Amino acid sequence: MTMTTTATTTAATDGLTDRVVLLTGVTGDIGTRYLNAFTRAGAHVVAVDLPSCESEGRRLADEAGATGPGRAVFVGGDITDEADVRRAVDEAVQRFGGLHSVVNNAAVYRTLGGKRALTELTAADWDLVLRVNVVGTWQVIKAAAPHLAASGDGRIVNIASVVSRNGAPGFAHYVASKAAVEGLTRAAARELGADGTTVNTVSPGLVDDAASRELNTSDYLATAAGARAIPRPMLPEDLVGAVLWLAGPAAGFVTGQTLVVDGGGVFV
Ligand SMILES: NC(=O)c1ccc[n+]([C@@H]2O[C@H](COP(=O)([O-])OP(=O)(O)OC[C@H]3O[C@@H](n4cnc5c(N)ncnc54)[C@H](O)[C@@H]3O)[C@@H](O)[C@H]2O)c1
Repeated sequence: MTMTTTATTTAATDGLTDRVVLLTGVTGDIGTRYLNAFTRAGAHVVAVDLPSCESEGRRLADEAGATGPGRAVFVGGDITDEADVRRAVDEAVQRFGGLHSVVNNAAVYRTLGGKRALTELTAADWDLVLRVNVVGTWQVIKAAAPHLAASGDGRIVNIASVVSRNGAPGFAHYVASKAAVEGLTRAAARELGADGTTVNTVSPGLVDDAASRELNTSDYLATAAGARAIPRPMLPEDLVGAVLWLAGPAAGFVTGQTLVVDGGGVFV
């Protein structure tokens, strides 16, 4: 018996026009890059970040929306606060008519404030990082899930980090939080799949952005860059293709997966 295959000419990031995306952590270098890429692709974005980032967040959303063709609105909120998260989801439904995709990019990363041995971390350090990076991510999934189900084609992209594989020293609580994000992804993929919602993780390598430059020496960044199969610094735009693909219709039968994007630093 011969099998026929149907060639498809669909580009990986096609189909984002008029998709409504909830994106968290939008004022960080990487989040801003996702915001601009989504609106350029025609998606409408509810851009979320802490209320303390309000003026910067509004400016970034206004700029992205003005460039378009997609529109963008900023919502100040803390992802660990159930009411804030609900307000962001409601904004998507009221302003843009629904919700199709979520990118859980917000995390305590830059504000880790430096590297510390695990023997120096406190329980309060752990509480904050796990509360934002894991519980906050779950909180957004919980609030978004019914609306993603209503769309019949929902997408959730969680952001982890290769540190959960290479065990980068200096922030054990952050490393553990990103491993937990991968587990949460798999659990959510199982629970939400029957509704047509996919849930995946993008796991970035060390990005040469403002946050990483605050936490790492330039020697450390250069060594990481040189150790990659593609031996160069990683930039925020290196993540855009993977995130937009997993957030869009083309990736509808991929779920529960972790896609490492790090130029071949670690192989999984
Ligand atoms: N930069 C890297 O090298 C790297 C590598 C791997 C993974 N990542 C991940 O990529 C994502 C973006 O990284 P980044 O470098 O832009 O980090 P960043 O720290 O600069 O940005 C994180 C963003 O999340 C926001 N945020 C923090 N707590 C929040 C809360 N409770 N509610 C709402 N928003 C909150 C911050 O205000 C900030 O805008 C993070 O999930 C990070 O862990 C980054």
